Amino acid sequence: VTNLQEFLSGVEDEDFRELCLSICGGLRELDRHYDWVGIYWVKGENLVLGPWSGPEETEHKKIPISEGVCGAAVREKQTIIVDDVQSDPRYLACFADTRSEIVVPIRAKGKIIGEIDIDGKEKAAFTAEDKQFLEALAEYIGNQWPGKW
Ligand code: SME
Repeated sequence: VTNLQEFLSGVEDEDFRELCLSICGGLRELDRHYDWVGIYWVKGENLVLGPWSGPEETEHKKIPISEGVCGAAVREKQTIIVDDVQSDPRYLACFADTRSEIVVPIRAKGKIIGEIDIDGKEKAAFTAEDKQFLEALAEYIGNQWPGKW
């Protein structure tokens, strides 16, 4: 995990979509625990997959806010770290080798507009330091949001 300014100096930011895609790729390169990185956007009652970076695509391109660890982060309005996905009943499986997950809400103008979702191959891959860094990054993303789709 690095300093936010240092990380952002390496991402492309031509427009909001490019920024988000570049952040997903940049996060994967940054930390060996960030095995799959995606951003979901809140659209009505669902989370819809936006940019992502990882070895495989997920079948979960649309997740009801009522489901999954992803939905729980929006409902609870907070970051969720799952140390062992196999023992969390909320978990929606995407990849056979995922063992832990962190989901960080993205807020814009006081509302949750999306979230950063990262899967790790090791149990308990995500620490308080990851949470702090990713929450600062989510705040940055929310501040860059153009305000409409
Ligand atoms: N595991 C998530 C679903 C999304 S995939 O990890 C990409 C969940 O439980 O909501």
